[in-house]
Amino acid sequence: MKQQSLSESQLIQLDTLKELVKARFSGHGADHDWYHIERVYQLAIFLQSKEGGDLMLISCASLLHDISDHKLNGGILNDGGNVTRQILNDLGHDVEFAAKVAEIVDGVSFKGAGVPDEVTSLEMQIVRDADRLDAMGAIGIARAFHFGGSRNRPFFSPNQLPTQHTTFEAYSSDKSHTMNHFHEKLLLLKDRLHTQAAKEIGERRHQLMENFVEDFYRDWNFAGEN
Ligand code: ADP
Ligand code: NI
Repeated sequence: MKQQSLSESQLIQLDTLKELVKARFSGHGADHDWYHIERVYQLAIFLQSKEGGDLMLISCASLLHDISDHKLNGGILNDGGNVTRQILNDLGHDVEFAAKVAEIVDGVSFKGAGVPDEVTSLEMQIVRDADRLDAMGAIGIARAFHFGGSRNRPFFSPNQLPTQHTTFEAYSSDKSHTMNHFHEKLLLLKDRLHTQAAKEIGERRHQLMENFVEDFYRDWNFAGEN
């Protein structure tokens, strides 16, 4: 066990941050609401207990990782770090700590199948793994269809094939059907997890998505045999 404990004052700082993030996420859709942040936070704390890393840094970065998502901020990419610095400075954290959290927040997102992940630290790996695990499995499937539904997209359209996006801009502006998202991101996540602990959790979540996708196409193409 590599669990760390936080001081009384760090716990108070985290409680304040949780309340602030919770308030900012009220009214967000189920693909990206406070419950997503809470699940990622819990996963990140679990991964820290297995893998090590700075618990306060991981806690703050997981709580802030979606604080300024391009899908919700009017389309600005990579703005999370700026908002993070501002929030942490306002809450009285020192500038150096805020910069470390901001660096993680800017590095967490999946930016396209053809865009390599840049990794700078174990803490970055852990927060990214936690966010990716919540995009996988049963909850990942639910989030994907909620996302597509909220934009009135079809589940699937046979003539629109998946794309291997090579830039974040291309990935984030793609508007195709929801099944494509499985091939463009969700089924790729298993091999883009960093830590051993996340890979173990990811295996079952990946298998469930594989089975789901296979059954989806079988049912779609139903031809009288099951
Ligand atoms: P995360 O919070 O994991 O960084 P994103 O911000 O990319 O994920 O997206 C939020 C949720 O919506 C995730 O579960 C993601 O898989 C899903 N999602 C993103 N883009 C699409 C899409 N084009 N179609 C369906 N689901 C999507
Ligand atoms: Ni997220």
